[in-house]
Amino acid sequence: MRFASFIAGFALTAAPLVAQVPVYLDETKPVEDRIEDALGRMTLEEKVAMLHAQSKFSSRGVPRLGIPDIWTTDGPHGIRPEVLWDQWDQAGWTNDSCVAFPALTCLAATWNTEMAELYGRSLGEEARYRNKSVVLGPGVNIYRTPLNGRNFEYMGEDPYLAGAMVAPYIRGLQSNGVAACVKHYALNNHEVNRHNTNVIVDDRTLYEIYLPAFKAAVQEGGAWSIMGSYNLFEDTHCCHNDRTLNRILRDEWGFDGVVISDWGGTHDTDQAIRNGLDLEFGSWTDGLRSGTKNAYDNYFLAYPYLEKIRSGEVGTEELDAKVRRILRLAYRTVMDRNRPLGSLCSDEHYAAARRIGGEGMVLLKNDGGLLPMKVEKGTRILVVGENAVKMMTVGGGSSSLKVQREILPLDGIRERFGDVAEIVYKRGYVGDVTGEYNGVTTGQDLSESRSAEELIADAVAEAEKADYVIFIGGLNKSDHQDCENTDRAGLELPYGQDAVIEALAAVTDRLVVVNVSGNAVAMPWVDEVPAILQAWYIGSEAGHVLADVLSGDVNPSGKLPFTFPEKLEDVPAHIFGDYTGISQRDTVDIEYKDGIYVGYRWTDMQKKTKPLFAFGHGLSYTEFQYGRPVADSAFMSEDGTVTVSVEVTNTGSRAGQEVVQMYIGDRKSSLPRPLKELKGFSKVYLEPGESTVVTFEVDRDDLSFFDPDRHEWVAEPGKFDIYVAAASDDVRGKVSIELK
Ligand code: BGC
Repeated sequence: MRFASFIAGFALTAAPLVAQVPVYLDETKPVEDRIEDALGRMTLEEKVAMLHAQSKFSSRGVPRLGIPDIWTTDGPHGIRPEVLWDQWDQAGWTNDSCVAFPALTCLAATWNTEMAELYGRSLGEEARYRNKSVVLGPGVNIYRTPLNGRNFEYMGEDPYLAGAMVAPYIRGLQSNGVAACVKHYALNNHEVNRHNTNVIVDDRTLYEIYLPAFKAAVQEGGAWSIMGSYNLFEDTHCCHNDRTLNRILRDEWGFDGVVISDWGGTHDTDQAIRNGLDLEFGSWTDGLRSGTKNAYDNYFLAYPYLEKIRSGEVGTEELDAKVRRILRLAYRTVMDRNRPLGSLCSDEHYAAARRIGGEGMVLLKNDGGLLPMKVEKGTRILVVGENAVKMMTVGGGSSSLKVQREILPLDGIRERFGDVAEIVYKRGYVGDVTGEYNGVTTGQDLSESRSAEELIADAVAEAEKADYVIFIGGLNKSDHQDCENTDRAGLELPYGQDAVIEALAAVTDRLVVVNVSGNAVAMPWVDEVPAILQAWYIGSEAGHVLADVLSGDVNPSGKLPFTFPEKLEDVPAHIFGDYTGISQRDTVDIEYKDGIYVGYRWTDMQKKTKPLFAFGHGLSYTEFQYGRPVADSAFMSEDGTVTVSVEVTNTGSRAGQEVVQMYIGDRKSSLPRPLKELKGFSKVYLEPGESTVVTFEVDRDDLSFFDPDRHEWVAEPGKFDIYVAAASDDVRGKVSIELK
């Protein structure tokens, strides 16, 4: 009894000494309560200060309340080096070198969702270690034209594939307490006139082709932020577009994250207030030049907004909604005290980059089994081409990096084969010898004074004596190649490379062409070259990855995430002639007259034009045989599912991985539909002689199309064909089901 009253007395006297943790800081309270509490404590000025940048890449928190600033960074292949507060120039840090992961086209080419998760997680660890709260990426704009200078940052032509790959990337990234900022939402499908292109697209195409990957990023990936694109849609810029941001993103998809403008993508205060933008970055992106006193104070969502509120012209409802969302982002990132610490340039990150790169390489052609190389003592290997020795991590625009190391292709080949083989290098052609972006320089001297003819003759003389000739060319990260803000001039390989390849092919039948690019290129010499490898931009481990695949240490298993057309005239975006590629000052209307027939959807319909290499194509050093696909039921009920299974056997002599693809076609529908559309895939690893059964679950959604009149997805009763395929042009079996 005495003891109890002692306790009670102690509690009474001690209580005032225990500081009350305010709700917004109390980790035991639900985040939404903490948000409301923080909001209630903020002044008008503090709220507005949160809505816009305070430097090139950061925005303000609430210092008085201990809510930290938000730091963003590019994205999407590695963590961008630090720039000065107000300028794009380098800050000159010595500890901001990163691992460059393979470009997103390569990730998409793995068709392996585990690789996407590994990628996001590893990148997030680097971002976290560098104390970033938001990574500006990944990008999922659909590959509509091979001229788009930014395709290398995206995940190909198919909405299903891009959506399936983006979600695990985001989950992996965000597991570090670092937000993904999915970009560029929406319809940013080429670069020329990117600020003044007004896209005209019908609703069906919008919902079936251009939105699904963003929707998957939001609903399946759970993205915490999204970036509005530069272009216009329905005559309004996409950074403050009521239709795309308020109505689709928030109302239809339930997005509760932050909409961040692309850098310099905000144009109007009223629209920015009402049409869904939360956080404005990069207006007057040349730093302070165009601002008056302090450029950041004069952003559209800074003083001009404050003035409108103070004068009573607008209320604070939108303001509070924006601040709530930014606070939510803060609680998910900088305010999460339990998030991991991250790591930079770890062995694990290099290993991840190498693994992803190896799985993404696409063996396009391999006549006579020229690859993998059989190298013994004295084998003579000739390597030709600028891309064998050119660093590719610097350049390309905002995704440019400063890397701790980049293994060049030639060095990777030397390291792998150098102790037995004789390796000779010849330049072959001169591309772009520059190597600088925003003050990061490669430090390489690639200057060359010999003429094109001399370079070819030199390479050819050596090729005649070689057991293997490996030509390593393609595009690079310079303007009008694979580079932001510009598009390519044509589908052809630049710098006279076709002539070099043809000259080499004339003297050797042991020629391997390695195309380094994030885009399809024309290959007029395709029939003369026995082996072709699509090598992407692999980043830090480029040379190792290439040697892994050439040697057979890694059996290639990548498949193309976009169609390689034979010529530009086969691409619907160009057939219908709405893309001019000419830079203009005024708004340019671009009508997507190709509609839903992008990529293989077009080649399937246009039976007469065969692609050079089809979507989903990719060879292996082994062979896979497919059994007959079977469905567990011939009918599907309204809300039922059907399981389709197929046996796949490795009939070759090496272990390998196969990407089994499932496409669905509707036999008869009220609106025209593509012959078939990708609705599932599975990557399986098989030892020689081993078999496995791959299953796909098909539901109503997989049978649906978007009906623009009803504004909903509709599955019409009737027969559907389910195709099991090794590529979009290599169907191995078909089974039909009927929707009741
Ligand atoms: C690009 C974005 C990038 C931003 C910040 C813009 O020019 O379009 O993708 O994240 O700059 O560097």
